[in-house]
Amino acid sequence: MELKVDGDRLWSTLMEMGEIGKKGEGVNRLALNDADKEGRDLFVGYLRDENLDIYVDKIGNIFGVRYGRKHTESPIVIGSHLDTVKDAGIFDGALGVLSGLEVIRILNQNDIETERSIALGAFTNEEGARFQPDMMGSMVFTKQLSLEDAWKAEDDDGVTVKDELKRTGYLGSDLFNAGCFIELHVEQGPVLHSEGLEIGVVEGVQGMAWWDGEYIGEANHAGTTPLDLRRDALLAAAELCCRLRKIAEDMSHDSVATMGRLHPRPDIRNVVPGGAFFTIDFRQYKPELYEEGQKEVLRLVEGIAGKHGLDFNLNQTVDAKPVRFDSGMVGLVENKAKELGLSYKKMHSGAGHDAQFMSYICPTAMVFVPSIGGRSHCPEERTIKTDCVNGANILLQSVLELSAV
Ligand code: GLV
Ligand code: MN
Ligand code: MN
Repeated sequence: MELKVDGDRLWSTLMEMGEIGKKGEGVNRLALNDADKEGRDLFVGYLRDENLDIYVDKIGNIFGVRYGRKHTESPIVIGSHLDTVKDAGIFDGALGVLSGLEVIRILNQNDIETERSIALGAFTNEEGARFQPDMMGSMVFTKQLSLEDAWKAEDDDGVTVKDELKRTGYLGSDLFNAGCFIELHVEQGPVLHSEGLEIGVVEGVQGMAWWDGEYIGEANHAGTTPLDLRRDALLAAAELCCRLRKIAEDMSHDSVATMGRLHPRPDIRNVVPGGAFFTIDFRQYKPELYEEGQKEVLRLVEGIAGKHGLDFNLNQTVDAKPVRFDSGMVGLVENKAKELGLSYKKMHSGAGHDAQFMSYICPTAMVFVPSIGGRSHCPEERTIKTDCVNGANILLQSVLELSAV
């Protein structure tokens, strides 16, 4: 009989993790905060229960290894991340990690010996909600970011990643490697749900560029300063916000641009804002358009500063280029969807993922399951149990095939 995951056990483990860091409706396991530590500790406990060997590397990525006969070869790695954005849902990241756990549990329960070793991983700071860049753990793991730069990253209060790794007990020193990587994830967009499909076979991830910026003008009295004598930093940032959207619209091909943070200074109703901090997120799947869009963003920020007579700072914090996954791994996921009789489509990811960086060092694939109404990065993020279980079964069957030789 074909091996299947235990859907009830997967679901109850997801719900257990989903309680950690819950404030009101949303989950708040921002990277390396107390709740993230609690989630990591719970995960490490699960790994111990399965008798896995545990490795923690210098950026705090956690791996649990189930050895195969060929234990000197690099393992098949499965997993995702346990950190969340602010007021998050419970599926983003956790589904990939805990489905991987369910795969390990089923293999153990059935005493299945494999040729290749299997490692279950949880990468540090995938979200970038507290420390930038996002996908920090997988970037360091794949040498796309230096450990020193990652350790130095500060949150809004000036606390560094290294301080928090030490404080939470996850500043490890183990070395680790990956032979290939598969990440199961909720789609986080509307495509699968709206088309009534069960699985997304992910062929690649769109490029993502982030900037922190600031317009610097002159704070002054809101009643006495005539309009033509103002150097209003917030007005410029507001114009930037609207025109960023226009860049994405004009470029089309599913380009998106977002200003997610905007903080005027001094943030007082009767003062013309002398400063405005803002962030920009631009994404595009086609490599040439991704590069082109970044140049347009730079021109726009500078042009608006000139028009309003302002100074500005602009610091790019993320440049995650578009990637295409290994065709053999994508084909494996597609075959498993067919064999399990699940409806699917091939698609690319709009969200950033650790798989994006893992694909630099090893054959990589992703499996998507539908997000109800396409909602994600919010407490309303939902995926039905059957879809989670379908995704976990694809993961299980893919791992069985990969680990058999
Ligand atoms: C990561 O979750 C991103 O796509 O913003
Ligand atoms: Mn995620
Ligand atoms: Mn996310």
